[in-house]
Amino acid sequence: MTTDVTVTDEAVASLEGTADPRLRELLTGLIRHLHAFARETRLTQAEWERAIGFLTETGQTCTDTRQEFILLSDVLGLSMLVETINGDHAAGSTESTVLGPFHMTESPVRRLGENIDLVGGEPCVVSGRIVSDDGTPLPGAVLDVWQADGNGFYDVQQPDVQPTGNGRGLFTADAEGRFWFRTCVPSPYPIPTDGPVGELLKATARHPYRPAHIHFIATAEGHTPVTTHIFVAGSDYLDSDAVFAVKQSLVEDFTPTDDPSLAREFGIENPFRHARFDLVLDRA
Ligand code: BEZ
Ligand code: FE
Repeated sequence: MTTDVTVTDEAVASLEGTADPRLRELLTGLIRHLHAFARETRLTQAEWERAIGFLTETGQTCTDTRQEFILLSDVLGLSMLVETINGDHAAGSTESTVLGPFHMTESPVRRLGENIDLVGGEPCVVSGRIVSDDGTPLPGAVLDVWQADGNGFYDVQQPDVQPTGNGRGLFTADAEGRFWFRTCVPSPYPIPTDGPVGELLKATARHPYRPAHIHFIATAEGHTPVTTHIFVAGSDYLDSDAVFAVKQSLVEDFTPTDDPSLAREFGIENPFRHARFDLVLDRA
């Protein structure tokens, strides 16, 4: 007969026939930790029902363009923990950070120098090189970029306001591993709060804001891809990111620039802001 003392061992033993050893290990850990949590907090039936209701609502909030489960993982710090556990990298290579829920659509292929801001925010140029961990440039490396507009919304959040692909671009580095593109200066924005994750933040008196940032995934042959952001130095919320994703090495100056030769080089009018940094990838 099952009792509150034996149920954990019985549930774990039920996994004996699992063919995949890693699956068995993960489920065993999950059962043991969930049971320990229920015992430690003396979880009530009503609280269990509330939690099931919350998770159900989280699933029902997901659509093709909204990922409430990733958001939940993000605000609980789980995404950043998993990211950090797996984020082994050589000293000096670019650190990774969370993917977030808005990389859910393919970025349009764009030419180097193109403007990904189709709406018109504060003009900005982002430039740098993609290099290997020994400093060798990586021609043909691919840079996937996505960001919110100057008002803090992604294109997928405002399909009736922003053109599809606004704030997104897929760029290929030139023969010297260089990349450059035009955009608008990103601003801090709140993560979506009109769903169950928003209720959770409200119930715990947490603000929903992320510091201003641009997302990147850099890939190059023979190298480990990196999923990362750059954060705007001086932005609000660098010290209290709602999803715990700030790393000091990823904070970059977006320098006010009024230099005619740079403006000519990037095909932009003065004044503009310029963020300049290299992405350093580990050899696979
Ligand atoms: C983002 O930066 O796009 C993001 C990351 C985590 C949660 C919500 C948004
Ligand atoms: Fe973002």
